[in-house]
Amino acid sequence: MSTPWQQRFAQRTQRMTSSAIRELLKLTSLPDIISFAGGLPSPEVFPVEEVRAAVDRVLTQHGAAALQYSTTEGYPPLRDLLARHMARYGIEVGIENIIITTGSQSTLDLIGKVLINPGDRILTETPSYLGALQAFTMYGAEYVSVPVDDDGLVTGRLEQALRAGPKFMYILPNFQNPAGVTLSLQRRREVVDLADRYGVPIVEDDPYGQLRYEGQHLKPLVVLDAELHNEHRGGQYRGDVIYLSTFSKTLAPGLRLGWVVAPREVIQRLVMAKQGTDLHTSTFDQMVAFEVARGGFIDQHVRRIREVYGRHRDVMLQALERAFPREAGVRWTRPQGGLFLWLTLPDTLDASTLLEEAIREKVAFVPGVCFHPDGSGRNTMRLNFSNASEAMIEEGIARLGRVISAQGRRVRVARHEPVTATIP
Ligand SMILES: Cc1ncc(COP(=O)(O)O)c(C=O)c1O
Repeated sequence: MSTPWQQRFAQRTQRMTSSAIRELLKLTSLPDIISFAGGLPSPEVFPVEEVRAAVDRVLTQHGAAALQYSTTEGYPPLRDLLARHMARYGIEVGIENIIITTGSQSTLDLIGKVLINPGDRILTETPSYLGALQAFTMYGAEYVSVPVDDDGLVTGRLEQALRAGPKFMYILPNFQNPAGVTLSLQRRREVVDLADRYGVPIVEDDPYGQLRYEGQHLKPLVVLDAELHNEHRGGQYRGDVIYLSTFSKTLAPGLRLGWVVAPREVIQRLVMAKQGTDLHTSTFDQMVAFEVARGGFIDQHVRRIREVYGRHRDVMLQALERAFPREAGVRWTRPQGGLFLWLTLPDTLDASTLLEEAIREKVAFVPGVCFHPDGSGRNTMRLNFSNASEAMIEEGIARLGRVISAQGRRVRVARHEPVTATIP
């Protein structure tokens, strides 16, 4: 008799939905499709030769150790390197404040595992990172949302949301995924002050902080929090923020390497949770990343990535200007860094419907509704500008312009509105 699997799955799996991003990423492998869907780095910037040389050194000098099990906290020289990296960002932490993870996505899952009880409310930005919503939802999270505008999370709406008693706030201050917006310094201070006043901790997700193409670096929330409490001196961080970042965008996502900075008691819980998940992150990958990074290569590499992605961003912005004249009623964000920009269509249009048509025209994006826990944002979409080449960006945006324009005309005809412009 075959097992009736549907009756065996845990209740929490009923909250699992397949990721729209994953489904769409499958389409990127179709020939001649121009994908603005995934958050993939450009293949142009993968440091293949540096990784090859590092692999060789690791295997020659530490082969047996690299292939052995290791500690859950992570490879000490890599944690030490990250502690020094964080010090340049303005926060002095010891390696006991740092754990290496198998990428930030796994960090988000570990955070869910140690912090979320079923029914807990998590305060998120709207829109927010889909992968975090998926991870937290599995642990039974409910959401309290605060909108973002061009200066990031709208802090004027934060206090009211904090009164709902969230377990923690999940915030992406730099070049937010998906909206591409950046939290201003003034608002960063407000967030940290309100977190302190309401006793609500912050999970600060910062994969893109180093990928800034214009403007000044702004202090991360973890730094402002440490300054507020003056509690990072003497090499120990004891504040209200769990900070996470990743090597995915500065080195390579295939390595699956991320890290967390947090107060020691949080790190200890994460370590226990991680033991049950994967014992530890690949020893080999950690040693290779350390070997690549130890002489300062990442700084030099990040300068190149900024140059390439900064150009991609400019090309996409210019192509959007050409595709959507002002009267079209299409708006988009102007990100100062990161990988994404956010397009808002007239509210008569639905981006999910448009996607089917766009795919027929061989261009893809992620409908914005995926990033809204409350199902709103139907007239929005996320566009990635890191992965496609400059020529593909120009062609892809021109195709998107035609698809949106045709859909806008159809909607107006269906509503018997006069068709005055060629674009909605
Ligand atoms: C905001 C955010 N958090 C986490 C992740 C996951 O990163 P990683 O590749 O380190 O798992 C991403 C990936 O794009 C992201 O954009």
